[in-house]
Amino acid sequence: MTEKRIALVTGAARGIGKAIAAQLASEACFVVAADSDAGAGAALLSEFGRDSLSFEKTDVSDEAQVEALFSRIDQNFGKIDVLVNNAGIIRDNLIWNMPTEDFDHVLNLNLRGVWLICRAAAERMKRQNNGRIVNIASRAWLGNRGQTNYSASKAGVIGLTRALALELGRYNVSVNAVAPGLIDTPMTRQLAPEVLEKLIEAQPTRTMGTPDDVAHAVAFLASPETRFITGQTVYVDGGKSIGAGW
Ligand SMILES: NC(=O)c1ccc[n+]([C@@H]2O[C@H](COP(=O)([O-])OP(=O)(O)OC[C@H]3O[C@@H](n4cnc5c(N)ncnc54)[C@H](O)[C@@H]3O)[C@@H](O)[C@H]2O)c1
Repeated sequence: MTEKRIALVTGAARGIGKAIAAQLASEACFVVAADSDAGAGAALLSEFGRDSLSFEKTDVSDEAQVEALFSRIDQNFGKIDVLVNNAGIIRDNLIWNMPTEDFDHVLNLNLRGVWLICRAAAERMKRQNNGRIVNIASRAWLGNRGQTNYSASKAGVIGLTRALALELGRYNVSVNAVAPGLIDTPMTRQLAPEVLEKLIEAQPTRTMGTPDDVAHAVAFLASPETRFITGQTVYVDGGKSIGAGW
């Protein structure tokens, strides 16, 4: 097992995170899947097999749980080669209808949680003189109506990514962000069908992306060959970030 790269993927129980876990497992990584959904662990283990994946029930916004997660990684593997910060949530509303708790909740998980995990991983990767960090941001960092909390959190993730790339560059650790656009996952299916239809119409591709589309970009940035790419944001959005117009 030790010859495999050890990859921590947060929010790996479903959606984009699960596709990332599968892609990395297919590329000779052993995946540590961290998710707050304890119920998903058994299904993941039977699907992936214990030689490819372990499940860690973790709320990534909780500092003590993050510390405990990394202690277990230290004990079980003695290294961490790849970190993918994927866990994230939405609590959409126009600002005048948005309770403060929905701002706090989204920032707490999507930004503070990413920072907590990056801090724990950075210390170890610096010591190893090796590592790949990929943070899942969103095209929504550019701004979406109804997402003042979410857009702010993802803009924060991109700023964090750039700053950390500067801090870790000299230690052979790259830090990049992937910014997905509209991807077909349980999160997107929370949207009202008429809203989803409009969003698909506004896509240059007229389609949603798939979790696998995102997973391939993440696996590329997580690979040993991409050591000279750092601090970047790669859009996986069917061209939506290009801008307005036909
Ligand atoms: N789906 C999209 O269109 C889209 C677009 C852009 C960015 N993203 C981003 O991609 C990432 C994954 O999105 P998705 O659509 O697969 O979401 P999803 O809701 O389908 O899955 C999110 C996973 O994160 C887990 N999770 C939630 N809170 C957690 C916590 N506190 N600690 C640990 N795990 C937690 C959930 O249990 C779930 O397994 C998110 O960061 C999201 O913001 C998604």
